Amino acid sequence: MKITRIRVQSSAGPYLVVAGAGAIGRGAQEITALGHFSSVHFVSSPKVWRAVGKIVQRGLRLSNRNGVHLFSDSESAKHLGSVEQIARSLSRAGADRKSLVLAVGGGVVGDVAGFVAASYLRGVALVQIPTTLVAQVDSSIGGKTGVNLPEGKNLVGAFYPPRLVVTDPDLLRSLPPREFRGGLAEVIKHAVIADALMFARLEKDMDKILRRDRDVLGSLVPRNVQIKARVVSRDERESFLGHEIGLTPAEDVSRIVSLVCRLGPLPPWPAVSLSTLVKAMHSDKKTRSGVLRFVLSPRLGQARTYDKVPVNAVERILHFTPRLIAAATERPGVLK
Ligand SMILES: NC(=O)c1ccc[n+]([C@@H]2O[C@H](COP(=O)([O-])OP(=O)(O)OC[C@H]3O[C@@H](n4cnc5c(N)ncnc54)[C@H](O)[C@@H]3O)[C@@H](O)[C@H]2O)c1
Repeated sequence: MKITRIRVQSSAGPYLVVAGAGAIGRGAQEITALGHFSSVHFVSSPKVWRAVGKIVQRGLRLSNRNGVHLFSDSESAKHLGSVEQIARSLSRAGADRKSLVLAVGGGVVGDVAGFVAASYLRGVALVQIPTTLVAQVDSSIGGKTGVNLPEGKNLVGAFYPPRLVVTDPDLLRSLPPREFRGGLAEVIKHAVIADALMFARLEKDMDKILRRDRDVLGSLVPRNVQIKARVVSRDERESFLGHEIGLTPAEDVSRIVSLVCRLGPLPPWPAVSLSTLVKAMHSDKKTRSGVLRFVLSPRLGQARTYDKVPVNAVERILHFTPRLIAAATERPGVLK
């Protein structure tokens, strides 16, 4: 299978994402090319390590003699306590400034292990090995790391680009269906904002994708890495510019809704009032000086930032979206 090498530009210098079915088998060679490390430490969760630990160690030709530091990767464990737990475990295992941390897992493992790598001894080398679809096409690229506080998500963190990302869709075989579908929503988003041809391919191949066909995922995942890499290389902090107003054509909206519906049942629409939703949007990271900003798609394959969307238009959309989705899934009443 073809392995694609994708370069990501970051403030700390460029790094590579090596992506494709079987990419983990290339990992050893790619890590050797990064230089000499005094010790190598896997950071993962018990669940992920049980599912893919052997494949990863075999692929990288690294044994258990290297440190394996496991922590719970539930969203509720994405906190400073886990950072301390891993840092102390690294310290007990003798990790020094020349050590390498390999983060093996989904977005939670990547975010927590990335923040540990950023802060342990003021920074040690990091390689990301993403094992969920979300992590493969999104969170492992761009260098955002961090943990939650009781006050909110991702409130403590750092930009800390990895030295390398090894992205192998073969590691997704054990991923629970719900997590896989969540990643596909991200893939559809990439197609909507950046690649109309990929959108058409998703429409054609969705059944194969849902069966996790190796050939299809082997080309789909690297294409999504390219899109994400382009976005973060242009602007690491992902703050888009542009102020034009446009409208997504009705036909595109209908295609997007139909494709999303093929992923299976959608999560229920939150039982909160319109004013609460609008208030929550005002505290989102995309808000600037109290002005709501939206990344919208004027047509399939394109995206722009809009900051002149009237609040009553937002309220209308929030009012009609659940009904639109219910109609498209022919399950009226499911989403009230
Ligand atoms: N840093 C970023 O840029 C960025 C971007 C998007 C999301 N995130 C963060 O990512 C997190 C969500 O990550 P996620 O969607 O990857 O899910 P996740 O890390 O929460 O993992 C979901 C579940 O899948 C399991 N799992 C992971 N890989 C598996 C495998 N190969 N086989 C079997 N089980 C496996 C995990 O143990 C977990 O139970 C959130 O905390 C979010 O804030 C970060």
